[in-house]
Amino acid sequence: MTNRQIQLKRRPVGRPVAGDFEMVAGRLPALPAGGVLRRTIYLSLDPYMRGRMSDAASYATPVALGGVMTGGTVSQVIESGNPAFKAGDFVVGNDGWQEYGASDGRELRKVNPSDAPISTGVGVLGMPGMTAYVGLLDIGQPKPGETVVVSAASGAVGSVVGQIAKIHGCRAVGVAGAPEKCDYVVRELGFDACVSHHDPNLFEALRAQCPKGIDVYFENVGGKVAAAVFRLLNKGARIPLCGLISDYNATEAVPGPPMRPLLVSRALLKGFIVSDHADRAAAFLRDGSAWVREGRIKYKEDIVEGLDQAPAAILRLFDGANFGKLLVRVSKDPTRD
Ligand SMILES: NC(=O)c1ccc[n+]([C@@H]2O[C@H](COP(=O)([O-])OP(=O)(O)OC[C@H]3O[C@@H](n4cnc5c(N)ncnc54)[C@H](OP(=O)(O)O)[C@@H]3O)[C@@H](O)[C@H]2O)c1
Repeated sequence: MTNRQIQLKRRPVGRPVAGDFEMVAGRLPALPAGGVLRRTIYLSLDPYMRGRMSDAASYATPVALGGVMTGGTVSQVIESGNPAFKAGDFVVGNDGWQEYGASDGRELRKVNPSDAPISTGVGVLGMPGMTAYVGLLDIGQPKPGETVVVSAASGAVGSVVGQIAKIHGCRAVGVAGAPEKCDYVVRELGFDACVSHHDPNLFEALRAQCPKGIDVYFENVGGKVAAAVFRLLNKGARIPLCGLISDYNATEAVPGPPMRPLLVSRALLKGFIVSDHADRAAAFLRDGSAWVREGRIKYKEDIVEGLDQAPAAILRLFDGANFGKLLVRVSKDPTRD
């Protein structure tokens, strides 16, 4: 059996292109003593991966040239010497852009297909869902009646942010691109409103939907969206700084939004990285699982077929072409297909 994997061949400049990656057919990883061998079913594609392709200073080490691209995965155990796992179990791990993974199993988390579709383990009930939970609740600290604005509102993180804001009694206003995304955010997810960042009058559109100003801005995008939101901040506003996707492919410094509104509103802006908050995982899984089960948090997945499609598919995140949590189906999902 071979293990196809996608390696980083060259560091992209600007938008990644096909030639930055190479598909290599290697051997199956050896099963370490007491370890777990598994087959990848779903690979999660996430914006942070653009940072891992670059050797610019960051909070995490980059993928080495010739190394397998990093990534969250949902897999099925094939063979196990670890008593915590048996063949057939489904696990969430971090095996990257490849068909098989093996390790001592310490980093794996079991998922039960009768609780929720296994793909949610890297989506609404995985890293993106937890990012929304920690960023909104711990940093944003929303109070009933307040207005919460979130950018990239139809995406993996943003969609959960707005729905948790609603659960906490807030007015939730999204910012998204295409009209069908804005429509989905309001009609399906229950946000109070959503404005398009393509609107040439973005500031006026936001002001109309935030008549009492903005108390929490969950920042996923940066640039002109942040510039419009900042002008509407209320005194004591909180800004969980989650991501700045509008500049991930930039080749030169992108001018940031004006800072003066932060001073005037005495706003708190705090960057955070979800992996620093492992202590919140149990609370997130408890609350998140209940909300999904009860239908209080809905989610959408955008599934691309085949590992070889990953390099092209990741660009969807930067083009706004994904609609929902972006996943690659690397092999058959026995719980679904
Ligand atoms: N801090 C952390 O620990 C952490 C963890 C996970 C994710 N994040 C961040 O969270 C953000 C969302 O990630 P996600 O996984 O949920 O992705 P996503 O929202 O599912 O997909 C990315 C979306 O970003 C929007 N976008 C892309 N370029 C844009 C631009 N120039 N201007 C405005 N919108 C743009 C697009 O939506 P539209 O079509 O609506 O424009 C696109 O669909 C990212 O910034 C990511 O880096 C941070």
